Amino acid sequence: MIDLFQNFYSGKKVLVTGHTGFKGSWLSIWLHELGAEVVGVGLEPYSEKDNFVLSGIGKKIKADIRADIRDGEKMKEIFKQYKPEIVFHLAAQPLVRLSYEIPVETYQTNVMGTINIMEAIRATESVKVGVMITTDKCYDNKEQMRGYKEDDPFGGYDPYSSSKGACEIAIQSWRRSFFNPEDYGKKHHVSLASVRAGNVIGGGDWAKDRIIPDCIRAIEAEKPIEIRSPKAVRPWEHVLEPLSGYLLLARKMWECPTDYCEGWNFGPEAESIATVWEVASQLVQRLGKGELKDASDPHAPHEANLLMLDIAKAKTRLGWKPRMDVSRTIDLVADWYQRYRQEDIYGLCARQIEQYVEEGLWK
Ligand SMILES: NC(=O)c1ccc[n+]([C@@H]2O[C@H](COP(=O)([O-])OP(=O)(O)OC[C@H]3O[C@@H](n4cnc5c(N)ncnc54)[C@H](O)[C@@H]3O)[C@@H](O)[C@H]2O)c1
Repeated sequence: MIDLFQNFYSGKKVLVTGHTGFKGSWLSIWLHELGAEVVGVGLEPYSEKDNFVLSGIGKKIKADIRADIRDGEKMKEIFKQYKPEIVFHLAAQPLVRLSYEIPVETYQTNVMGTINIMEAIRATESVKVGVMITTDKCYDNKEQMRGYKEDDPFGGYDPYSSSKGACEIAIQSWRRSFFNPEDYGKKHHVSLASVRAGNVIGGGDWAKDRIIPDCIRAIEAEKPIEIRSPKAVRPWEHVLEPLSGYLLLARKMWECPTDYCEGWNFGPEAESIATVWEVASQLVQRLGKGELKDASDPHAPHEANLLMLDIAKAKTRLGWKPRMDVSRTIDLVADWYQRYRQEDIYGLCARQIEQYVEEGLWK
């Protein structure tokens, strides 16, 4: 496989929180392929069909730890034991609808969990780089036509979005108070950034109330696919797109610790901004089965209708850009769900990473 990061990750000690989840399992596989020593911290996977379980990545990495990020002392213990050099913090309660049902737990996990990880970083000398994963929903959503820029105000209507807005404020505060670039090399040795992706899709996601898993579940149950918000516009991107951004950013932060410790958007190009209905239709077309049903519910809990990210900063300052349009993204998604019952999933993910790198005109 071509190494996009010039052998940077080979032998590096990398701690990934949320490694049992959708994005975390892909990130752990990619890091493992790059030769990193990965330590994963997360809760039990949600189901036997999760990418984490099917790929067997938990057995390949250096340590596969079940622990709750709400337990700050436990986090410090784990960091002390494994001495990571780079931390990717993905663990979260990531669902808008569920956050209306469990708002307190959502805040405890997302906000206090993030603070606990930053405190563990502060207490562990080995950590040089912390990449904290928030979301496009951290911005104060004005349903505007232009994409949100990194310095737009944080906010959030529902408990999930606002908890991630609150995470951003906490990250900014910890950076100013404890990991200030002006004090780098004098009071600390940490470069801390936050990253915001769009609506991430890819193989192995089975989360509730997300469009791709909803489609697959309905198709497998031979039921119509009920689309709750057919007209909602989202910035769709394949999971490998933001992950490539996180990996590139962490390398740059390692090399120039005071130049990149800030917020970054890793969204898709404007052409990949499409409605939920359009994405579901394309998936149905690729799979050759499934029937869409408009199930708009005027009484459903509030969810944003329009959400876009401005990615000019990552393009100009990091040289990162998205490599796949929606059509190619859906090809890879369909490929995973068509094969997951028959194939070696680790091999399938590694092959998709390879395809992504090789097709992506990375030079
Ligand atoms: N999927 C998307 O479209 C998307 C978009 C933008 C941002 N994000 C963010 O990316 C990150 C990963 O999202 P995902 O889609 O992979 O979610 P996921 O639900 O598949 O994975 C969440 C992970 O967090 C872990 N976790 C949850 N609560 C925990 C706790 N209390 N202690 C320890 N671990 C805990 C889970 O075990 C799992 O490993 C989240 O921070 C999410 O907010 C996701």
